Amino acid sequence: MNLDDDYGLDAATDARDAEAEAFLCDIHGEPSEFATALVSGLSKRNKAIPCRFFYDAEGSRLFEQITSLPEYYPTRTETGILRAHATHLSQLVPPGAVLIEFGSGSSTKTELLLAEMDDLHAYVPIDISPAALDDARARIAERFPRLRVTPVVGDFSRPLPLPAAIAGHARVGFFPGSTIGNLAEADAVALLTSMRAILGKGAILIIGADLKKDVRRLIAAYDDAEGVTAAFNLNLLRRANRELGADFDPGAFSHLATYDVRHGRIDMHLVSGRAQTVNVLGHRFRFADGERIHTEHSHKYDIAGFAALVQRAGWQSREVLTDPENLFSVHILTAS
Ligand code: SAH
Ligand code: AVI
Repeated sequence: MNLDDDYGLDAATDARDAEAEAFLCDIHGEPSEFATALVSGLSKRNKAIPCRFFYDAEGSRLFEQITSLPEYYPTRTETGILRAHATHLSQLVPPGAVLIEFGSGSSTKTELLLAEMDDLHAYVPIDISPAALDDARARIAERFPRLRVTPVVGDFSRPLPLPAAIAGHARVGFFPGSTIGNLAEADAVALLTSMRAILGKGAILIIGADLKKDVRRLIAAYDDAEGVTAAFNLNLLRRANRELGADFDPGAFSHLATYDVRHGRIDMHLVSGRAQTVNVLGHRFRFADGERIHTEHSHKYDIAGFAALVQRAGWQSREVLTDPENLFSVHILTAS
């Protein structure tokens, strides 16, 4: 599945993409997915870097800082919903089942559910960030010493081998954070479809979806006063320098968050502050003054729209939990 943005490629960029395949190595000589995606994304007419590359160790650390910013309402709001309904949610997980979490990050929200479950066979956090998984595993092991925790490092949009220890056990999915909103619509449907297959017969998926709201509030959440979101966005360039020996000058780019009313989504960009050329693995990328690199979509939903989206992937939204201000929603999905 291709999670890249749906930007058109012209013939010249197609040719450059093909050329880029020739040297997809990091500075240690290892093939690197980040190298492939970066060279291909910067070769597009509308430059873009897929948002899953935000999450190296530094990116995961910065994301954790974002979650406690006053402007970033999603984490504390969803946590409040989960806390209020933790007993009910934990009762959806049959005894002896496995809880599989997609994009688990720090697993902080999961602790609220784990605390209410005493007959879970295993907890399987899946994340692309090894650093986030390591920290989460250590914390969960300390708090729940009898729980079997089997982390999986990888991209949840690709087929991933799951631990043998969970074979034959019922599975319940957990996908909080509104991380689904970071995918383009077609990719979100494809991911939800593959989750249905992973979770199997009679599947249940508990999923967080951020809701549409006042645009100023949304923009503030993605362009905070302290500049943590800006640092998170710019870390993509610093990561390219660290891992691939690129020569981005992060000071020559700035963070921009916009709201696209038609698609109902925040878009994050890095904006070139001057005309400049950047070298990545032997490629030279020219930037005009003001040219943007698109780095993230973050879709905002209404409840009916989200129910319609999941339905396209064969799920039914059976129950929706929200907060008193209707900022965020948690849907309980069953396979239809
Ligand atoms: N679930 C947590 C973290 C959300 S941040 C919460 O609700 O707070 C998004 C998480 O998804 C990050 O930890 C990131 O590393 C992970 N992630 C993003 N894209 C991913 C992908 N394609 N595959 C696996 N993990 C991914
Ligand atoms: C992980 N994801 C749901 C976050 C979001 O709100 O879209 C990532 C993020 N980007 C900027 N701030 C937080």
